[in-house]
Amino acid sequence: MKRSILFTFCLCAMLSFSFSQTSKLWFKDKDLIQTGVYYYPEHWDESQWERDFKQMHELGFEFTHFAEFAWAQLEPEEEKYDFAWLDRAVALAAKYQLKVIMCTSTATPPVWLSRKYPEILLKEEDGTVLDHGARQHASFSSPLYRELSLKIIDKLAQHYGNDSRIVGWQLDNEPAVQFDYNPKAELRFRDFLRNKYKNDIHQLNNAWGTAFWSEAYSSFDQITLPKMRQMFMNHHQILDYRRFAAEQTTSFLDDQCLQIKKYAKNQWVTTNYIPNYEEGHIGGSKELDFQSYTRYMVYGGKEGIGRRGYRLGDPLRIAFANDFFRPIQGTYGVMELQPGQVNWGSINPQPLPGAVRLWLWSVFAGGADFACTYRYRQPLYGTEQYHNGIVGPDGVTVTSGGREYQTFMKEIKDLRPRYAPRESKPKEYTARRTAILFNHENSWSIDRQKQNVTWNTMDHIGKYYRQLKAFGAPVDIISEDKDFSIYPVLIAPAYQMVDDALVDRWVEYVKNGGNLILTCRTGQKDRYGRLFEAPFGSKIDRLTGNKMEFYDLLLPGDPGLVVMDGEKYTWNTWGEILIPGKDSETWATYTNEFYEGKPAVTMRHLGKGTITYVGVDSKDGTLERDVLKKLYATLHISVMDLPYGVTMEYRNGMGIVLNYSDQPYNFSLPQGSKVLIGSTTIPTAGVLVFK
Ligand code: GAL
Repeated sequence: MKRSILFTFCLCAMLSFSFSQTSKLWFKDKDLIQTGVYYYPEHWDESQWERDFKQMHELGFEFTHFAEFAWAQLEPEEEKYDFAWLDRAVALAAKYQLKVIMCTSTATPPVWLSRKYPEILLKEEDGTVLDHGARQHASFSSPLYRELSLKIIDKLAQHYGNDSRIVGWQLDNEPAVQFDYNPKAELRFRDFLRNKYKNDIHQLNNAWGTAFWSEAYSSFDQITLPKMRQMFMNHHQILDYRRFAAEQTTSFLDDQCLQIKKYAKNQWVTTNYIPNYEEGHIGGSKELDFQSYTRYMVYGGKEGIGRRGYRLGDPLRIAFANDFFRPIQGTYGVMELQPGQVNWGSINPQPLPGAVRLWLWSVFAGGADFACTYRYRQPLYGTEQYHNGIVGPDGVTVTSGGREYQTFMKEIKDLRPRYAPRESKPKEYTARRTAILFNHENSWSIDRQKQNVTWNTMDHIGKYYRQLKAFGAPVDIISEDKDFSIYPVLIAPAYQMVDDALVDRWVEYVKNGGNLILTCRTGQKDRYGRLFEAPFGSKIDRLTGNKMEFYDLLLPGDPGLVVMDGEKYTWNTWGEILIPGKDSETWATYTNEFYEGKPAVTMRHLGKGTITYVGVDSKDGTLERDVLKKLYATLHISVMDLPYGVTMEYRNGMGIVLNYSDQPYNFSLPQGSKVLIGSTTIPTAGVLVFK
């Protein structure tokens, strides 16, 4: 086992190397991370721009971000372009050594466009057609909208694509998956299906199971966009609709990117996704150079630890986004982090002093190449008047969040002389590298047929993720297009939809020394969301060695118990009653109901590796925690035992420890290390950096 971990580690190092190559195309190890801020020149009197850029630079910012919502100013009339004002802003920013991220402003078409071509407007399921006066009201499925977007992008890219003051591009703003009922979307959906089912309506009928309830179609022209709110709507159809909807967003971004790359040879292209992992579009635009995300931590939600936890936010929210975005292309950026209070939460409290800096360090810890904040000045008018900036409404007074940015940027600059390559990380840390296999389609499918209202796919995954972070393990959340063999441990939680090819890959991974953890609901359906014509759940029997007798679901008020090594755990959302194979070790059993004593968790050696099957979802994640502890101990993978709220990561040869808990945390420095920032007693919202 030790040998296979060592072998894996070498592969890890190779993979890290190729990751860092991607990153090195655009970013330098010696910069560690660069920090920037959004500025909207069109919101302010031009006489103030220079003052603002000067102060931005003095605070320590290295780049700014322009033109995100400025289509009306850039093309005030159809095909009449005005880039002169933007040229002046770019020149002034450069005067203060601020590089620029240029944006495509496709989230905000100008009024002439919506009035002349109303067919581009997005239509909701209830028939509401969105209108001018806000943003994100145009349909990505409208061929005309795409054409008009690409036209202005072509002009912008021609103008700025070869300008060394522009480092890169952000496409659109927080492009989401649209559930758009625009008639053009319906036409495109039919084409999508024609293509997918090779123009053969029988194939589609088969895939969608339309023999059920007389749902059969005789031609593609009869198909409409599924009404998601209509009770019992065919969920196979909805699955395809969601795939189609995600593809509308990903292909629109790819089109934009290709248009820019016609001119831009030395500028990167990304976009700023909201980390809504289940939407299914993140990572789908293959033309982008890397992915970026936006993250808001304090907005009146209950997440966080202790009475004032809501002022810091969920301790793993940034970590999960890092671990999701980084593996897609090996590097990532964070485009928006709040500098203080926001305007759109249910309650918009002040972050805890230190929180803004803690979030920045959390982004750094994950390996990001840049962090950027929305926004420099607090707006005087418009929807976001109550949104904090780096400076207040007077345009000059630095806010408390602005001061925290300043502190972070100074700390980074002071650390730069000590840089090591980004992937320089201790062996002990990389030896516990773990991947979580994620496919948004599983949660789409499960959500339409939950079987138990208390089931939550992301929470289920979160139970494993949380423990991995307590181990101080580097985690990659990966999709099926990645190589599994570089991870000593791979977890596929509630991986409902599989095919033989995937199960074969899992078998091969395990036989070659990998340690696979599968959890309940895995392998129960095919990629169309249909059950296999076989015993329920049996697709993975050749891995687990078990058979499934049946599954049970309990009322939340009357949960069941599972026992493992004398400890008891409660569950109610999903429990599979297993018949263990001859070589399966039973790790946990049910202790009540008519299946008392039957297995819930098993472990089995297969080839050079192991396969652990967790057939139950515990209420509070403690069973998942203890299964992982037991497994890593069995595998002799050394792990940490960090309390919830404390995380530790390595990059550039430095260790970063973050404290989101409501208690100070005493960290034991690894032998021979020295503190660079903070102290080993880390207060709430505190950061420790060591080397
Ligand atoms: C983000 C959005 C920004 C701004 C910000 C306010 O979601 O991308 O444009 O609206 O919210 O917090």
